[in-house]
Amino acid sequence: MGSALITGATSGIGLELAWELAAERNDLVLVARGLERLESVAEQIRQKAGVQVELLPADLATEEGARAVAARLYAENKPIGILVNNVGFGLSQEFVGGDLERELYGLDAMVRATLITCHAAAEVMARRGYGAILNISSMASLTAQGTYSAHKAWVRTFTEGLAVDLKGSGVAVAAICPGLVHTDFHSSAGVDAGQWPEYFFTTPAHVARVSLNALRHGRVIVTPTLRYKTLAALLKVAPRALVRAVAGPEMSGRPA
Ligand SMILES: NC(=O)c1ccc[n+]([C@@H]2O[C@H](COP(=O)([O-])OP(=O)(O)OC[C@H]3O[C@@H](n4cnc5c(N)ncnc54)[C@H](OP(=O)(O)O)[C@@H]3O)[C@@H](O)[C@H]2O)c1
Repeated sequence: MGSALITGATSGIGLELAWELAAERNDLVLVARGLERLESVAEQIRQKAGVQVELLPADLATEEGARAVAARLYAENKPIGILVNNVGFGLSQEFVGGDLERELYGLDAMVRATLITCHAAAEVMARRGYGAILNISSMASLTAQGTYSAHKAWVRTFTEGLAVDLKGSGVAVAAICPGLVHTDFHSSAGVDAGQWPEYFFTTPAHVARVSLNALRHGRVIVTPTLRYKTLAALLKVAPRALVRAVAGPEMSGRPA
């Protein structure tokens, strides 16, 4: 039994990971911006799973928020055994003509915060000789959907490098690359998820279970469903001109 720190823990994949980790008797540190939702999720998990749940309200796009999570990772009195970097969102805009501040917000939350928290976790976990880091990337990391794809490709490549750095240290590292998942992700980005056939969706519970299983088996890059494993294999061998033609920004599903 240890503690798991999960960012973006009040909804979707992060919430399911919180429940799975609590069911495995891990105490939790939950990170998100909305305090009310954090309190409500924490109370439900305490009551049903009987584990301790700490709240860490923070905006991961801010220096203060990312450093607060890093500080919690460094706290030796209640060590974190598992770090889950799960915060991510669609930017709801095109890059050309879009708001630069919104772009920087997305970059800071999805890339900079991941770097800051992994830097802290890698150091303390390697020193301790055990731990696990789970970073949520996306199938979009293999496509050309603007800065969201770029951020997720960074997460994927960075995680692979970190896994090499930490090989033999006792710290497991994995990047999860889901395709479409039924969560608040699309509605929050102003995208109608109903435009894609149900066949392409999976559940956040499935992604959470596959993610934790992957960590246990030492897998580094993980695609949760067979249909997306197949698609990932195709995207890796397809000419990039073809990928750009079929999997560019219009694939994000934003209204034109
Ligand atoms: N859903 C999909 O189809 C899909 C597919 C591939 C990859 N992913 C990736 O999976 C991860 C989880 O997505 P999801 O679908 O589960 O999303 P979600 O249901 O929208 O949940 C997002 C969570 O992140 C928190 N959050 C958002 N911005 C934050 C910020 N700046 N600082 C701190 N917390 C923040 C939200 O709480 P607050 O709003 O209260 O902060 C919420 O708890 C993301 O990295 C996403 O890119 C999703």
